[in-house]
Amino acid sequence: LSKIAVLTSGGDAPGMNPCIRAVVRTAIYNGLQVAGIRQGYQGLIDNNLYEMNTRSVSNILNLGGTILKTARCIPFRTDEGMETAYQNLKANGIEGLVVIGGDGTFTGALRFSKKYPDIKVIGVPGTIDNDLYGSTYTLGFDTATNTVIEAIDKIRDTADAHDRLFFIEVMGRDSGAIALRAGISCGAEAILLPERDTVIGNLIENLKKGQYNKKSSSIVIVAEGDKSGGAYDLAEAVRQQIKFYDIKVTILGHLQRGGSPSAFDRILGSRLGFAAVNALINGETQKMVGLEANHIKLTDLEEALTQHQFKLEDDLMQMADVLSI
Ligand code: F6P
Repeated sequence: LSKIAVLTSGGDAPGMNPCIRAVVRTAIYNGLQVAGIRQGYQGLIDNNLYEMNTRSVSNILNLGGTILKTARCIPFRTDEGMETAYQNLKANGIEGLVVIGGDGTFTGALRFSKKYPDIKVIGVPGTIDNDLYGSTYTLGFDTATNTVIEAIDKIRDTADAHDRLFFIEVMGRDSGAIALRAGISCGAEAILLPERDTVIGNLIENLKKGQYNKKSSSIVIVAEGDKSGGAYDLAEAVRQQIKFYDIKVTILGHLQRGGSPSAFDRILGSRLGFAAVNALINGETQKMVGLEANHIKLTDLEEALTQHQFKLEDDLMQMADVLSI
């Protein structure tokens, strides 16, 4: 192995930059050349890459987003797109690839490396959704959760001042990970998750109990992927039945994806980037590097994508219900 490349793909996540830095420096430390590919798989197709050195990644540990930029690339899903990407990698002498992203990124990586096994591929779980098997935490989840907590604390102040009920929608297309952690941290009266069915009748009952118990405000956190509809629809359904609260809705949106990575995400990004390059040096391919019980673990990309034991912890869900009375 003499040359590798690194890219970030799909939704950006705080911690991607510390990870890029670790990939570049671990590669150079081990005598490898390293190229940065811009805009994810799109950059592979467009041959949009550049040689990186130790200074290319100076002073980026604290930056959100990704210095390599990212994209959700449709052409890479086609045989022609993959063939162009492969030819570009060959022409640039690249033998190993580190891809940082979520399940869409890994799906592309796995298909590509099955088609072209001479390019070794290692995935790094980078998504605020925390929804990949093989790593207890994914890059960006901790920072995003802290960002959400900061926002909800502020909403609680005004909700309390006005005796209001807020429906707050947080990110997570298929995952309630942010919603659950943020809900516990902010004492939400209810947390609605894609992982369990929402019964509107129960929600209304709980809110009525809260009012009977003299709660001055209520916060309901709705994960984007909750199947009962978005925060606006839910608020409307509840408004029909609850008159004692003035009801407001806040969608936190993309502010959840930005910001300087937390200490946890800087360290996780560094560890995973370091581990990804060492895995390539050891001849590994089609694997994801993850962190389980505070140890680096390699998981087959195939398994990371198909096993779904990352499911939310039942005890946390039960606890959240108990503590919110
Ligand atoms: O996968 C990360 C994520 O932030 C999801 O929680 C969200 O549903 C999605 O990306 C939004 O994607 P985009 O930024 O492309 O709108």
